[in-house]
Amino acid sequence: VTLTVEGADRGRDMSQTLFGIFFEEINHAGAGGLWAELINNRGFEAGGQNTPSSIDPWSPLGKENEVMLTTERASLFPRNPIALRMKILCGNGTACPLGGVGVANPGYWGIDVRAGRTYQITFWLRSDAMVNLSVAFISQDELRVLAQQFLIVDEASSYDWQKYQFDLVATDTDHYAKLAFTTSVSGSIWLDQVSAFPEETYKGHGFRKELAEMLEELKPAFLRFPGGCYVEGERLQNAWRWRDTIGPWEERPGHYGDVWNYWSDDGLGYFEFLQLAEDLNTAPIWVFNNGISHSYSISPRNIQPWVQDALDGLEFARGPSTSTFGAIRAAMGHPDPFNVRHVAIGNEDCWKPNYQENYMAFYKAIKLLYPDISIISNCDATNGPLRHPADLYDFHIYTNANNLYAMKSQFDQKTRDSGPKVFVSEYAVTGSDSGTGSLLAAIAEAAFMIGLEKNSDVVEMASYAPLFVHEKDRRWNPDAIVFNSWQQYGTPSYWVQTLFKHSSGAKLLGHSVTGANGGPTPVVSAIRRHDPQTNGEYIVIKAVNFGKDVMAMRVVFNGIPANGIAFPNSTVATLTSDKTMDENSFSMPEKITPQVSNLAYPESDMQIMLPPYSIVALDLRL
Ligand code: AHR
Repeated sequence: VTLTVEGADRGRDMSQTLFGIFFEEINHAGAGGLWAELINNRGFEAGGQNTPSSIDPWSPLGKENEVMLTTERASLFPRNPIALRMKILCGNGTACPLGGVGVANPGYWGIDVRAGRTYQITFWLRSDAMVNLSVAFISQDELRVLAQQFLIVDEASSYDWQKYQFDLVATDTDHYAKLAFTTSVSGSIWLDQVSAFPEETYKGHGFRKELAEMLEELKPAFLRFPGGCYVEGERLQNAWRWRDTIGPWEERPGHYGDVWNYWSDDGLGYFEFLQLAEDLNTAPIWVFNNGISHSYSISPRNIQPWVQDALDGLEFARGPSTSTFGAIRAAMGHPDPFNVRHVAIGNEDCWKPNYQENYMAFYKAIKLLYPDISIISNCDATNGPLRHPADLYDFHIYTNANNLYAMKSQFDQKTRDSGPKVFVSEYAVTGSDSGTGSLLAAIAEAAFMIGLEKNSDVVEMASYAPLFVHEKDRRWNPDAIVFNSWQQYGTPSYWVQTLFKHSSGAKLLGHSVTGANGGPTPVVSAIRRHDPQTNGEYIVIKAVNFGKDVMAMRVVFNGIPANGIAFPNSTVATLTSDKTMDENSFSMPEKITPQVSNLAYPESDMQIMLPPYSIVALDLRL
């Protein structure tokens, strides 16, 4: 195979925002994942606001005749009224067991407690008598104390709710620990809004550091959030609502996401998503609920409050700190507006009742106040013009590996008109080709992405989906990043994404590929990028071999003088494995990752081997 790259200085500008990320609260991506809160059901609201309410996953420490846990509408916070009452039955006549009795929370399938680390503990408490309390991280088997603080609240100050805040420094390690509140004094203790955070979070803003760093590694050009179906809800009353997720965390009601079926305390709320986008130096794309759930659509006659809700949300993000909602943002610590330049009116709603009519109400109102905001429609304009104006339209594709591979040409024939640009806001290989993240899936996605690069004059944005999965809540397979309470790894699909991190804002170079004797050819792109860090110019060539035979690819550059490529700053990265269905795992997290080496003999005419089912990426410094 011969690849000829044409004049490196005659490239075509690619979209500045081509490859980004899509975060959805699915698979416990946020609650128990990217959001570093360690306590699950911290306000005791997950079971609903009626009593008795389920307190899962809290559980008693002690026997039935020693401690009794009940729920009461006794909270200090009116929007989340449930608080836990612990009735300590021992300690008055019968002695409590050594270490006391009480209640424990295992976090999200275990709390990662490590010796030497500091954890910030916050909770609200009241009691009907003097309190002698131990607050401790204990091991999963409840036999070891990993970190502990004693608290004595005298009778006089215990009757009213008080906020307690202190650090726990761990002296021992358990990745599946629990937070325990215990006492050996009889009486009643009410507990509410219990929070524990690791001291160190990404940029100090509450994101789990290792997971956020994996996002940073992708250099995403945008962050689409907070979902997907999560935005819609099965029922409208369970949809994600931005205004319930802002302000002090104790006052957020939380909600049950009924599409992916779990509770979220909404610690990771609208503000935090905007902050994450800022911290990742990326463009936020807010998908808002447009009055449509999976089972219900607001009629055009009643859509106005929903339009106002979206406008209020934009005022929260962009309004001056003197505006009603901008002031709330400022009080949360961000007086400057967030840089929201894109919104999506709903998710996958085009063919649901009322979408098209209601869409126009949102469109007009937003454009009037924010003419610079690009509006994303859910209606697919692939096969003809839309019935309404839009700056971009969503295109979602989940399919098998062969289909997605074939879709590398999906946008080749798209008319280059003044109509809306494409936002491939969700794509992935799914089904039996993907397992829980196979090489085969990743290589097909790589070919599809090369097709997006080549069509980046009409495809303005693209994001793989879903981003995260907790190993204990695999609602959707595969995903880019797998984690548990203390570990994480990228699937091959994640690593493919890293190979495209230089594409946004690069220049697409012309090239031709000829097969040996008319044989198969790889899928190739050539781009030129500027690296601000080294102030260097690079040519990035990516080649995908989606076949079972190795290919030898000769690379020829037209218009680059011999010795025009510098040494030693040129590298070759190869992503492949022995079997197409190979995956990474917690035991072998780096089985399939790009193997990077310096190019041994960088020349202007080079020979590259493309293993079966592989992507090879050359990064050549000029
Ligand atoms: O990415 C998972 C789901 O797939 C999203 O919630 C939805 O938009 C799509 O159907």
